[in-house]
Amino acid sequence: PEVISVRELAEKMGEDPNKLIADLISLGKFVTINQAIDFETVSKLVEKYGKVAKLEGAEEEEAILEAELEEAEDKPENLKPRPPVVTIMGHVDHGKTTLLDYIRNTKVAEREAGGITQHIGASIVEVDTSEGKKKITFLDTPGHEAFTAMRARGAQVTDIAVLVVAADDGVMPQTIEAINHAQAAGVPIIVAINKIDKPGANPDRVKQELTQHGLIPEDWGGTTIMVPVSAKTGEGVDELLEMISLQAELMELKANPDKKARGVVLEAKLDKQRGPVATLLVQSGTLKVGDPIVAGLYAGKIRAMFDDKGRSVKEAGPSMAVEVLGIEDVPLAGDKFYVVKDEKTARKIAEKRQELARESALEKEKRVSLEDLFAQI
Ligand code: GTP
Ligand code: MG
Repeated sequence: PEVISVRELAEKMGEDPNKLIADLISLGKFVTINQAIDFETVSKLVEKYGKVAKLEGAEEEEAILEAELEEAEDKPENLKPRPPVVTIMGHVDHGKTTLLDYIRNTKVAEREAGGITQHIGASIVEVDTSEGKKKITFLDTPGHEAFTAMRARGAQVTDIAVLVVAADDGVMPQTIEAINHAQAAGVPIIVAINKIDKPGANPDRVKQELTQHGLIPEDWGGTTIMVPVSAKTGEGVDELLEMISLQAELMELKANPDKKARGVVLEAKLDKQRGPVATLLVQSGTLKVGDPIVAGLYAGKIRAMFDDKGRSVKEAGPSMAVEVLGIEDVPLAGDKFYVVKDEKTARKIAEKRQELARESALEKEKRVSLEDLFAQI
């Protein structure tokens, strides 16, 4: 729910509202000066200015605030390197799924005896690089939907976007859309020029076309890494993975694994046998079986956890994606989750959030009916 307009907040902080609007864009929120923003966004925004936001008379929010504060206070010595989280994007049929399948099949470290890899919306692969083995977390969710759903809720999950462009087809509408999404979110793009095994493939034409959209290849004096690949034969895929690892290294991605976990719901569903099942991406801290948790509007306690290969695991650190059981209902993709100190706190926060959600739904209804009323006059 929205708590304060950008204008009012700027006044309270003594800052230029335009500056706050720019900050909000960098947080993935596009708002005007008179638009109101939610508490979580306010918290993040003021954090940049070394301030802490408090909701008057809402002690239930305190636990979340605590989590936000913990995040703000991570000491450099507590930060450890974490794997990059990578989303594969691109136009329809340009080979996103095939590429991911190739990467998974050949690079999955330990394949199960049965060979059936359970689908959990994310794959963690281990890559041999010149600097040893490195993990990469790939999000399976269709790129655009993931970006849109996540960003609608202000969640940023991707560190790097791999843009797949078929060399026999070139830049298409969804290619451009993907570029825009990634750039708006401030996510670096690595281009995989795919299908180079095809007779009609023309990688140079793809580069030329991408140049018109602001992506200049490194070998033409620009800064965008572009790797020719074939998801079918596997040609170039090792180099692509190496480039992803290198890019990740440059970004010095770090998180504190030694605290209560927080992160984002990648997807969730109701399973007839198992009840609500959610795939969570841990962004900081370590998630453990038995942890009391709030995910979106719902409370829970982690009953069981499974990794991307369907194996039962006891804990999951930063950048790991796991399927969890034990949340009382089905949260939405893009919802944030937080481990809190006990189940009672989880329940209190969840109840408060549900109440707020109901109120804002009512507000919306009221507004709509008023508008309808005026429309009829
Ligand atoms: P959507 O999920 O529909 O957006 O498509 P996608 O981008 O996931 O493409 P997908 O992986 O389904 O590939 C589309 C078609 O291209 C399939 O028939 C693939 O077999 C084929 N394909 C993908 N990569 C390559 C490649 O490197 N070479 C050749 N020859 N065919 C490929
Ligand atoms: Mg696909």
